[in-house]
Amino acid sequence: MSEADLPQILEQEQKCFPDSPWPEKEFLYELHENPFSCVQVLEEDGRIVGYIDWWILYDKAQLANIAVDPDYRGRGYGKQLLEACIRDAHEKGCETLSLEARVSNTPAISLYHSYGFIDAAIRKRYYENGEDAILMVLPLGGSL
Ligand SMILES: CC(C)(COP(=O)(O)OP(=O)(O)OC[C@H]1O[C@@H](n2cnc3c(N)ncnc32)[C@H](O)[C@@H]1OP(=O)(O)O)[C@@H](O)C(=O)NCCC(=O)NCCS
Repeated sequence: MSEADLPQILEQEQKCFPDSPWPEKEFLYELHENPFSCVQVLEEDGRIVGYIDWWILYDKAQLANIAVDPDYRGRGYGKQLLEACIRDAHEKGCETLSLEARVSNTPAISLYHSYGFIDAAIRKRYYENGEDAILMVLPLGGSL
């Protein structure tokens, strides 16, 4: 991901998270300031069809954002993005990869379950609209 990708990403972010899209400054922070972040885009014919952002926090990894353009869903792109993150966290010796998802987000929760994520906890009223989050954790073994 580079700064030049942001117009396309911000458009997708609005479509993917209409209630709580990340503003441009959040992506700029992830690109230029956050020392823990890893950001990638997935392209098809030069068009950005998805993106992902994760943090490597020493022995723990955290998935911060993942999204696929609604017109390109159901083609395995979400899996490709998630696999890049899992591979990196594994290679860097992390013990776990964690994330939060809205309890209503069936597509995302199914995706995470298919990779072995465990339902670890419910974070009550985690989102601005009062919805609960499910905390999901993938054990990676760790080698640090
Ligand atoms: C979650 C998301 C990234 C999945 O992207 P995708 O490219 O459609 O996913 P894939 O085509 O790789 O599908 C992977 C798996 O996800 C699950 N899945 C995807 N869409 C699903 C749906 N509509 N219902 C149930 N499960 C679904 C399935 O387990 C699927 O595996 P399968 O095809 O073998 O059954 C996409 O729906 C998205 O961008 N959603 C909006 C943003 C978001 O909610 N991000 C996650 C925040 S926690």
